[in-house]
Amino acid sequence: MINKYNNSNKDVKYLYKNFLNIGQVGLLDKFDFSEDKIVQAKKCTLYTESGREILDLTSGFGTQNLGYNNDKIISERIAFANNNELPFSRLFFNEDVAKLAKKISSMLPGSLQYSFFSNSGAEANEGALKLAFKYHNGQRKLLIHNKDSFHGKLIATSQITNSPEVYFDFQSSLETDCIDLSNTDLLEEKVLKNKDNIYAIIIEPFSASLARPIDFKTLLKIQEICNREDIVLIFDEVYSGFFRTSNLFYFMNESDLLPDIVTYSKSFGGGISSVSGYTTKEKVFTKAYGSQKDALLHSSTYSNYVEESRVALKALSIFSNTNFQEEINQKRKYFIKKIHEITNLKYVESLTGDGFHWGIGFEKIKLLNLDKLLKLLPLEITKDPRFAEKLYVSSIINELYRKYNILSYAGFNSEIKLFISPPIIISEQEIDHAVESIIKTVEKKPLVLMTSFVQNYLLRFLNKN
Ligand SMILES: Cc1ncc(COP(=O)(O)O)c(C=O)c1O
Repeated sequence: MINKYNNSNKDVKYLYKNFLNIGQVGLLDKFDFSEDKIVQAKKCTLYTESGREILDLTSGFGTQNLGYNNDKIISERIAFANNNELPFSRLFFNEDVAKLAKKISSMLPGSLQYSFFSNSGAEANEGALKLAFKYHNGQRKLLIHNKDSFHGKLIATSQITNSPEVYFDFQSSLETDCIDLSNTDLLEEKVLKNKDNIYAIIIEPFSASLARPIDFKTLLKIQEICNREDIVLIFDEVYSGFFRTSNLFYFMNESDLLPDIVTYSKSFGGGISSVSGYTTKEKVFTKAYGSQKDALLHSSTYSNYVEESRVALKALSIFSNTNFQEEINQKRKYFIKKIHEITNLKYVESLTGDGFHWGIGFEKIKLLNLDKLLKLLPLEITKDPRFAEKLYVSSIINELYRKYNILSYAGFNSEIKLFISPPIIISEQEIDHAVESIIKTVEKKPLVLMTSFVQNYLLRFLNKN
């Protein structure tokens, strides 16, 4: 394996500690993978400097649906750079950006037509919120979002993210209300009390941080209320898009669903471009930004960035290919069948998800037996009321990595879950290896896993100091 880097992992950690994020180093240091340096990545495999081949079940947090360093995506990017193409200017019309907008519209149902491209999921959502607010010309003030929602961490989006992971009360920039949108009677009450004041409802049709879809009946009811009251309905498909779940976008599984705006990101850039966007109905766009006076009310320097758009266009050509879709359909069926093999395991309480994104919930761990273990650890984290659950899931992640060369991750929203979310191009052989390894790991007693996790950490810590 070629090592393209000069610095050791230790040096890089030093730089992180001193110039990026000291706490992040502390968090990742608990895991064995923090000792490894990844020198190459291809398809579903990460190659470490020490020669290990790691099967990635995280998809780089949803960015790598097509697998790491997809050949077609890489070639497109290289061709762009080699030809000295104009990467950016706002003063010339660009064919790729225009084609990208047409392409995404052609892949979406109904009248979803006008797009705006940005660089992150949170920016796509904030763009959608501004558009919805402007659609009502600032006359309506209230924005509704869902319980346990995750929409990003910028000033506005952190305000509509209802997860303990984003707990700090930053200054508010929006008038918002968080309600349990699965209770549509509650929504009706809210609408009645705020007649003509709600400008938008934003919701994830499939919540990646809970690995749980919202049922179509509920989504259809919310849509009916929005249509009736002229409330802009925003579907956040930032995580669930591009076949992470069982369709291009999760909402497309129900043909009668059609939001006013859909937002997306992650694998939109084929795993390489940091590009995101929203697409909206013609009616919404023209009313909000249709005049010359309003045309530039929402933009940023790198929005509609040409090189990123070219790569995204390539990604869409792969996602829309019917042979590719057929292959993914077969793979998805196999993956779903296999992943269900874990449901009857002793410590597994729940398995939820769709397509290639599944969350495993575990039985609550009793703290009784953990006293000795807790005494060994720094006090700060043990004060967390969900500490035992987090420790257990973390110990599973570490065991999967140490013993089976598998990278997985967990979510700490209102439910603590182990996520299994591989690139959608994963092979059947890799699926078998993943499921067998999870079974062997989860069959172990929680206390054994947790003790080994803590011991490992302490040994590494003592060795270093
Ligand atoms: C549903 C959803 N919306 C928005 C975001 C924010 O995206 P970003 O981290 O690119 O800002 C995320 C990130 O994971 C997400 O899962």
